[in-house]
Amino acid sequence: MKAAIATSYGSPDVIHLAEVPMPTPKPTEILVRIHASAVNAADWRLRSANPWFVRLVFGPFKPRRPILGVVFAGEVVGTGVAATKYKKGDKLFGWTSLMKLGGHAEYVALPETGAFAPIPAAMSYTDAAAIPFGFGTAFSFLRKAQVAQGQRVLIYGASGAVGSAAVQLAKTMGAQVTGVCSTRNTELVRSLGADHVLDYTKDDILAKRDLYDVVFETVGKLPFKESLALVKQSGTIITGSEMPTQMLARLFAGKADKQVKVIGGTALSTAADMKHLAQLSAEQAILPVIDQVLPLERIVEAHARAESGRKVGNVVVEMG
Ligand SMILES: NC(=O)c1ccc[n+]([C@@H]2O[C@H](COP(=O)([O-])OP(=O)(O)OC[C@H]3O[C@@H](n4cnc5c(N)ncnc54)[C@H](OP(=O)(O)O)[C@@H]3O)[C@@H](O)[C@H]2O)c1
Repeated sequence: MKAAIATSYGSPDVIHLAEVPMPTPKPTEILVRIHASAVNAADWRLRSANPWFVRLVFGPFKPRRPILGVVFAGEVVGTGVAATKYKKGDKLFGWTSLMKLGGHAEYVALPETGAFAPIPAAMSYTDAAAIPFGFGTAFSFLRKAQVAQGQRVLIYGASGAVGSAAVQLAKTMGAQVTGVCSTRNTELVRSLGADHVLDYTKDDILAKRDLYDVVFETVGKLPFKESLALVKQSGTIITGSEMPTQMLARLFAGKADKQVKVIGGTALSTAADMKHLAQLSAEQAILPVIDQVLPLERIVEAHARAESGRKVGNVVVEMG
């Protein structure tokens, strides 16, 4: 089968297409023919070993798992002898998983209990591939923050994959949402349902201090002390994209005075989460946001765009 592989860490150019053996499903696994995937922050971070501790988990000198791709949308084409949850022809979308990867290929074998669910009837594979990463991450964090009806929620980085999903999901939870983005994305963020939009290139965001029940920093660009200024007493800060230096800064940020709850770490999705997102998609309560759709052959370009820090929503790759 055709796959995009990274046999060393480095720039997008380390990725190339190769013919690799087809995976064989184990007894409780399913074999999926992938129609679309996405290139996300997880992919470029693993490919470039950024942050450095990626190497501790994925291999000190080169990636142990050369086929990247943490999400997929595809069709079940085979089942292991003891796999009973899905049948041939089922259309699924979700995570291949951070530890397994393998989404940037024509086929993947996955445990049937993985974090995926049936694609809503009217949804294309391309749209479905743009749901799991951003919405899965945002949903996991917003649920932990117990966002409730009427709460004021600030989404910083509201035009990215996680941010554009967080705006929409916070609205489904009944929050009053403020999205922060640059001028070129203000209309998009408003169209996603944000009640207020702040332009980080023009507006004085810190004028809104002590206002928000939840501050969700999705892109690792807002210093923790500014999130702390914006959140209410006893509110919640979600650090969706925290790097080691920011973690250290947070320890010395004096958050005790405000008694805020801080949620960070890795967001993990479940099959139930994907089912919930499928339901919201079917009701059109959430919509995928797609920056570009590229064929797998243009995977290097897809990686470069994903790493640019400028993509709007998701870069989808189609297997053809
Ligand atoms: N903790 C976890 O489990 C987890 C899971 C998923 C992702 N993440 C992390 O979350 C981060 C975001 O991922 P993503 O895929 O959502 O990012 P992304 O899609 O690449 O984000 C791009 C967006 O960020 C906006 N942006 C860039 N600089 C900004 C700034 N200074 N202020 C506000 N917005 C800015 C850009 O808009 P403009 O061009 O308009 O500025 C662009 O639309 C990544 O670092 C990723 O590693 C963590």
